[in-house]
Amino acid sequence: MLSVANVLIHASQFPENVRRDLLASLRARRVNHKFHYDSVKQTQKWLALHQAYSPTRNDADCRAIYEKSFAAAAAQIKSRRVHVIGLGCGGGQKDTRLLKLLQARGKEVFYTPCDVSAAMVLTARQTALAAVPERNCFPFVCDLATADDLQKFLVTRHPSLVTFFGMIPNFESGKIMPKLASLVRPKDFLLFSANLAPGKNYAAGMKKILPQYDNPLTRDWLMTFLDDLGVERRDGRLRFKIEDAKTTRLKRIVADFHFRRLRRIEVENEAFTFRAGDAIRLFFSYRCTPGRARTVLNRHGLKVREQWIAKSGEEGVFLCRRK
Ligand SMILES: C[S@@+](CC[C@H](N)C(=O)[O-])C[C@H]1O[C@@H](n2cnc3c(N)ncnc32)[C@H](O)[C@@H]1O
Repeated sequence: MLSVANVLIHASQFPENVRRDLLASLRARRVNHKFHYDSVKQTQKWLALHQAYSPTRNDADCRAIYEKSFAAAAAQIKSRRVHVIGLGCGGGQKDTRLLKLLQARGKEVFYTPCDVSAAMVLTARQTALAAVPERNCFPFVCDLATADDLQKFLVTRHPSLVTFFGMIPNFESGKIMPKLASLVRPKDFLLFSANLAPGKNYAAGMKKILPQYDNPLTRDWLMTFLDDLGVERRDGRLRFKIEDAKTTRLKRIVADFHFRRLRRIEVENEAFTFRAGDAIRLFFSYRCTPGRARTVLNRHGLKVREQWIAKSGEEGVFLCRRK
């Protein structure tokens, strides 16, 4: 293996644009999620907490729903060549299992690990090299929320299998879904997974999954953003709660840092003052139901062909095609 990697970096992640987005987050006191994956340190912390708390790592049945969806996608794709596009690929573990399966079925595989974090993209690339030759791997760093010319870079010569795993909870669906849908052509497939609120009682389901967020590893990961800006942990308290979203009928877990004393920080010559009683939203995660996930996909021209829901009711995978 070469000791260098070619990585395409979209302008949405050029320093001047990242700086603009950071200032916007601080002005609005609502942190864009991408800032929690920015550095190598944050990437490592997220990978560690994912390992500790994600049902895909700790629940054999949850892992099995992904395996079944991969097998179904592989069986339905008839072309000999297939290009997997991992949107928000993270460490690339799920995409790599999918790539291995496609390869085992005799397909020539291509892979574009795509993520806002260069460290994630490189981690996913490294993981995927167990299944994909280096010449068929095209790492791509970009901000899916702000890039408006994704088709130029993510529309491939061969039929593609787009993966969008665990991404929807951290986005406003009205903004991200049109972009996702624009990347799925009639000859392509989409594997989409969503974190769900388990059980028939939505509110009780939300309470059940709260500990997957309100735990020491997640607190430490989220606080890294504020630490790096010069906010001290004793400046306030990080609180998790469940709230009803204003624009949708969904509930979400949110994490806000509440200041209990004055803190001034300076970023790019701009001063930000937080007083006792002020708060900054660090994180949110929507939880939906299988029916709601299908409705959202359908609204954006994506038809669910098959779905797999974990017995725990906490995660679902949907295999979709353009209607
Ligand atoms: C919850 S993780 C999911 C990772 C992976 N798909 C999985 O299922 O294990 C979210 C991923 O989205 C990436 N991400 C967050 N905001 C993004 C954005 N605006 N554009 C592209 N990727 C983003 C993060 O860097 C992170 O790798």
